[in-house]
Amino acid sequence: MELFIDTGAVSEVEEIAAWGVLSGATTNPSLLAKEDGEPGDIIRKIANLVNGPTSAEVVSPDAEGMIAEGQALRKLHEHVTVKVPFGPEGLKATRALTDDGAMVNMTLVFSPNQALLAASAGATFVSCFMGRLDDISVDSAKVLEEICDVLRARDLDSKVLAASIRHPEHMVVAASLGCDIATVPAKVFHQMLNHPLTTEGAAKFEEDWKSRPEFGEWLGGLVAADKG
Ligand code: E4P
Repeated sequence: MELFIDTGAVSEVEEIAAWGVLSGATTNPSLLAKEDGEPGDIIRKIANLVNGPTSAEVVSPDAEGMIAEGQALRKLHEHVTVKVPFGPEGLKATRALTDDGAMVNMTLVFSPNQALLAASAGATFVSCFMGRLDDISVDSAKVLEEICDVLRARDLDSKVLAASIRHPEHMVVAASLGCDIATVPAKVFHQMLNHPLTTEGAAKFEEDWKSRPEFGEWLGGLVAADKG
């Protein structure tokens, strides 16, 4: 499963991209509305940092407007993926934009039937929102599983993107189901790092190494010799 970052904050992308784990990013109007600066500038910076698909969302209510916005957003950066909300107008826009060569991330997908329509309209990515399903007491794991099954059964090219990730357990579920991508907030990336045995183990290794000061001198010398 590939990992995208779900944010409008360039500083978060800078931090997590440095870990070498990102292959794309998603933004949305709510995430961008929290940030200072011009959205186009932010999207370009994020796209450069992740060097992969970077979703920028259209906001028009009708297909014509979505298509015009999508075409303009694509010109911001070669990696811009047009994010289109699910619905009849969104499906029309998705078909037109993908026929024109754009990558489209169909967002706000909450059921296998919606996913089937999104994929049939040519969506590159179909975004299923796990957290928002859980919020209304619908089992997000079950819905995501049905979406994966439905798209595989039709042999559709669309990639299943697990979105609205709220905690590390969502990641385990999405990866186990064979989702192609998960888009992850920085907070969840940090939570994924943590395990008490890792912290404890690192502290013990450090303590034991320091108990032999000559080892530190030896390794320092090895590094210095390697640098020439
Ligand atoms: C990503 O594409 C979505 O916009 C995002 O994951 C939504 O997350 P939320 O439900 O936590 O706002």
